[in-house]
Amino acid sequence: MKITLIAGARPNFMKIAPMITAIKRLNSESTLSYRLVHTGQHYDDKLSKVFFEELEIPEPDVNLGAGSGSQAEQTARIMVEFEKDLIKNPTDLVVVVGDVNSTMACTIVAKKLNTKVAHVEGGIRSWDMTMPEEINRMATDALADYFFTTSKVANNNLKNTGVSEDRIFFVGNTMIDSLLKNLTKLRKPNVWQEKGLSDHHYFVLTLHRPANVDDLQKFKTMIQAIDGSVGMPVVFPVHPRTRKNFDLLNYTPQFVTPTDSLSYLEFIYLIKNAKGVITDSGGIQEETTVLGVPCLTLRNNTERPETVNVGTNEMIGEDTVALKKALENLKAGKWKKGGIPELWDGRAAERIINILKTLK
Ligand code: UD1
Repeated sequence: MKITLIAGARPNFMKIAPMITAIKRLNSESTLSYRLVHTGQHYDDKLSKVFFEELEIPEPDVNLGAGSGSQAEQTARIMVEFEKDLIKNPTDLVVVVGDVNSTMACTIVAKKLNTKVAHVEGGIRSWDMTMPEEINRMATDALADYFFTTSKVANNNLKNTGVSEDRIFFVGNTMIDSLLKNLTKLRKPNVWQEKGLSDHHYFVLTLHRPANVDDLQKFKTMIQAIDGSVGMPVVFPVHPRTRKNFDLLNYTPQFVTPTDSLSYLEFIYLIKNAKGVITDSGGIQEETTVLGVPCLTLRNNTERPETVNVGTNEMIGEDTVALKKALENLKAGKWKKGGIPELWDGRAAERIINILKTLK
């Protein structure tokens, strides 16, 4: 069987890396061959190249060079380029991961060319249609043939939309495969020395969702609330889209230090040793759960409920009073311990590849 793996944006890279490793390890009889397509949705070295290097992902067979743009422009560019590529390089199965624009765009193209699609991380839902990712999830899952899921909740979401059980495989979380594999390779980022950080005496902040950073007043209110209540350093690795807006705030916080985007090994080092993490990311809710680090999520909903029900995550929403209260509790040592969600054991990619080998 020939498969085409799609990767486009930063959070995709840690999901495909363990699948490539598993193909190499479990496929001695070479029944499975793969081609790696990078859509070029993320193109900065700090959002793409460094992840390929650190996660030892081979060079993609092609980079479609889609780049940035509005939601429609970016999605359309990925579709146009991937259609040409797939016609030239037919495959038995396109494997998409996560919920970024590349995930949805390549799914639509593949299905219109009568090519089967497997969605890794299928079935998760925030039920929040203002998130571009939720639209990507729903469109991808409406079309995909096979679903590799991270939770039983995701299985149920799929079943409730009429997907038959024989197309759903609960395998665990490939992002956690990467996390567990790399724990011995973590590296202190430069900001550690620069800010004189020490274990459990700093926070990590990430914010990049349009809902949190595109409205400058809202963004500033949130940063001010954090700065006013943490009482210890806050390292804020800034996504390029957030950087532009942060500079426009015209505000120099006392505790919050913005830094460039960090590499994977540096970022995980930082969150692993932090007092807590404040974020609006999806993947970081999962990583903090497995690391047992308190996570305060500045969103009103999550597509990853197991990080709240089982893990260390709490939904804070956009309420600065709730944020201050949560920070007080955390600093007073009142935070749940959390456990590890089922099958988040570092072997999800192996399970996926073993299942793919049985598909006709
Ligand atoms: C995308 C994903 C989001 C994911 C995030 C992780 C979608 C809809 N969103 O959001 O789910 O959590 O990646 O980072 O797919 N930019 C650069 N360099 C780059 C890429 C982007 O400077 O390499 C800037 C550009 O100004 C661009 C903006 O960031 O317009 C947004 O990039 P885009 O790919 O549209 O979405 P992300 O916010 O990165």
